[in-house]
Amino acid sequence: MKREPRENVVLIGFMGCGKSTMGIRLSYRLQYILEDTDKLIEARAGMPVREIFASEGEEAFREMETQLLRKLAEKKGPRVYSVGGGTPVRTVNRPLLKKLGTVVYLRTRPETVYERLKNDTARPLLQGEDPLGKIRSLMADRETAYAETADVILDVDEMTPDQVVESILWSIMQR
Ligand code: S3P
Repeated sequence: MKREPRENVVLIGFMGCGKSTMGIRLSYRLQYILEDTDKLIEARAGMPVREIFASEGEEAFREMETQLLRKLAEKKGPRVYSVGGGTPVRTVNRPLLKKLGTVVYLRTRPETVYERLKNDTARPLLQGEDPLGKIRSLMADRETAYAETADVILDVDEMTPDQVVESILWSIMQR
């Protein structure tokens, strides 16, 4: 028998793992409202993330993420959340993410992220020299935070977008 998940779904993972794309597809499949934290922060600040980093600094952006998570916890109705790649790094954010719903970690290899984002200019943390090196070291630093926050971990490097969506749906139905 087909069951519907009763909870919100929260997508976490490194930049370029597919959170935004999967968020759109999943919210469509489930008919849930989609909330993308980067977009909400940009709308509130009136500028793109890279400008927030440039003008106010990373710490100010991180504080905006935490404040937003606190606000989102008050929202009613089923939702899919796609959250910025660095959100689970702050310890205080981890219980907030868990409280929001079932947390699904879309895990990728550094090389996959590099291939997807090598021409990207929107992610301040990956600009400059040696982006693959930056991806490798940031990912290694963050792996524990992602794994600790996740209820479900999916290795998505070899999956098509359809397979990722089906795997997310299947995993959350088992819970
Ligand atoms: C960041 C990821 C970005 C965005 C910001 C910082 C990070 O979101 O929040 O550039 O620290 O990993 P995406 O994961 O959607 O790219």
